[in-house]
Amino acid sequence: MKNQLLKGDALTLLPTLEACSFDALITDPPYASGGLTAGARQKPPSEKYVQGGKSALHADFAGDERDQRSHLRWMVMWLSECARLLKEGAPVCLFTDWRQLPLTTDALQCAGFTWRGITVWDKTEGVRPQLGRFRNQAEYVVWGSKGSMPLQRRAPVLPGVIREPVRKADKLHMTGKPTALMRQLVRICEEGGRVLDPFAGSGTTLVAAQLEGYSWLGCEMTDHYVEVAGQRLAAL
Ligand SMILES: C[S@@+](CC[C@H](N)C(=O)[O-])C[C@H]1O[C@@H](n2cnc3c(N)ncnc32)[C@H](O)[C@@H]1O
Repeated sequence: MKNQLLKGDALTLLPTLEACSFDALITDPPYASGGLTAGARQKPPSEKYVQGGKSALHADFAGDERDQRSHLRWMVMWLSECARLLKEGAPVCLFTDWRQLPLTTDALQCAGFTWRGITVWDKTEGVRPQLGRFRNQAEYVVWGSKGSMPLQRRAPVLPGVIREPVRKADKLHMTGKPTALMRQLVRICEEGGRVLDPFAGSGTTLVAAQLEGYSWLGCEMTDHYVEVAGQRLAAL
């Protein structure tokens, strides 16, 4: 299958894709997180997320301002569309943070997927320390499958905790994930399969999929990040 990076709203693009044509959904949607109040969460990402102590290091991105009810509803909408696109038994991996973990497991199941567990991304001690508090050192990958998942799959044993620091040179999005982390995660897809990422951002999932021998399709609606992802993929 041809690899494709599509520009636009995933909710418009996903319905145009062929049913049962993907072997894995691996994505990092906007979390609609940050801030302790609903008002704080509605601020643009550059105002509510700490970027290494300095602001405006990376461009803002779309879709992060919804309140809890709207965010859950939106998650279920696009996940239901993905359920149509995945083959039976295909794995699903969704990034989330501590605040949105319960909403994410709800959304996965509301869309009809089977919830199978949580894998931890340990960002290591490189993250900002806070005196008198636990270090906010992890993000989570909620994972599951479309229906039952056979025990014999053409995929390796995968780690339950992936320890990978964020490196500046490898972070091309405000919430960009390390390429090495994504290279481990995409291996949940059966060998040579096709990976879907509806929220590609700077294209890290797609780069990892390409490097690990999968085909891929990504969607992204923020112009700047479509360009960044396009350049990264073209450079491979
Ligand atoms: C959390 S970021 C993904 C970052 C990515 N994992 C990386 O390493 O660069 C989510 C991305 O989804 C995009 N986005 C938000 N709503 C969208 C929508 N409805 N359709 C397509 N893309 C969307 C945002 O612009 C943002 O770049």
